[in-house]
Amino acid sequence: MTYSRISGTGRYLPEQVLTNFDLEKMVDTTDEWIRTRTGVERRHCVAPDQTTSDMCVEAAKLAMESAGIGPQDIDMVIVGTTSPDLIFPNVATLVQHRLGIPACIAFSLEAACTGFIYALTTADKFIKAGEVKRALVIGAECITKLIDWKDRNTCVLFGDGAGAVIVEASDEPGIIACHLGADGQYKDLLYYPYGASKGLAKAGTDEAAIMMSGKDVFKVAVSTLGNIASETLAAAGVAQEELDWLVPHQANIRIIQATAKRLNLPMEKVVLTVQDHGNTSAASVPLALDVAVRDGRIKRDQMILMEAFGGGFTWGSVLMRF
Ligand code: COA
Repeated sequence: MTYSRISGTGRYLPEQVLTNFDLEKMVDTTDEWIRTRTGVERRHCVAPDQTTSDMCVEAAKLAMESAGIGPQDIDMVIVGTTSPDLIFPNVATLVQHRLGIPACIAFSLEAACTGFIYALTTADKFIKAGEVKRALVIGAECITKLIDWKDRNTCVLFGDGAGAVIVEASDEPGIIACHLGADGQYKDLLYYPYGASKGLAKAGTDEAAIMMSGKDVFKVAVSTLGNIASETLAAAGVAQEELDWLVPHQANIRIIQATAKRLNLPMEKVVLTVQDHGNTSAASVPLALDVAVRDGRIKRDQMILMEAFGGGFTWGSVLMRF
């Protein structure tokens, strides 16, 4: 049987760092409020002329280097993002061309903060079907360009970045189980009000910015993430004690703590980057994965559960041996 496994990881974070103390000067907030309610201490923000594909290219170079491969070895590119450079061509084609990857399957998909989990699951299916040998899978966002910087309810939460992985065919697992879900009945709890067919407006103005009912999102996120984590382990026949690491979507420390509690997992087994990155939407899981791989916490053959939740709502998880 063919499995897929992650053979390399990489990340890119923009140079500019915005701390909670910087935000105190911009909106009516405090470092203390942001830290205690969300866990965020700082976040990275793209420069005005920087795009999602710029970040993808840098993260992808490091992922290829760590997998010991070059652009010619890749036969599929998928980018999970809600903040593409352009409406078309899709970001994956821009990345494919800029990296010198030979013509191949290349597309972006939009599942808000679950974008990377959707993209990784899709790559896993292509590889298991024998159609693709090696995929570049990226989660990337310029989400700070979609924010109203006068709205304290949302502007303190988000940050930019890109995380990339190389996924390749393998005789041994690898990715063990993927679970995806979505329910559009929650569309009004977290959304961006403009788009190609609804009409375009200047991003980042108060009428065109992320809209969120924070409390309601919080409640559904906690119950959904707890359920999906336990369901994924049960479906794969893996006991909670076998898990080495949970790599969760980094939206809010309290959501992460609640998920870990539902799993009976000590926080020492949870990779946390929310304090340094904020919520980077589709980029958050691959960013956290790369951080823990490169600092030596995540090691080969360990059992890892990744999960995410985002606007839609969408949700998903991937259980794997690294
Ligand atoms: N600084 C200071 N006060 C703020 C603030 C800020 N940045 N943002 C909101 N407040 C105020 C509110 O106006 C409210 O004031 P009021 O009581 O006078 O009306 C008070 O703080 C409490 O707001 P509330 O919304 O009850 O806080 P909360 O404990 O629910 O925390 C969130 C707010 C947004 C941090 C929390 O709901 C959350 O994390 N939700 C999930 C968001 C998320 O994860 N989104 C992405 C999903 S992928």
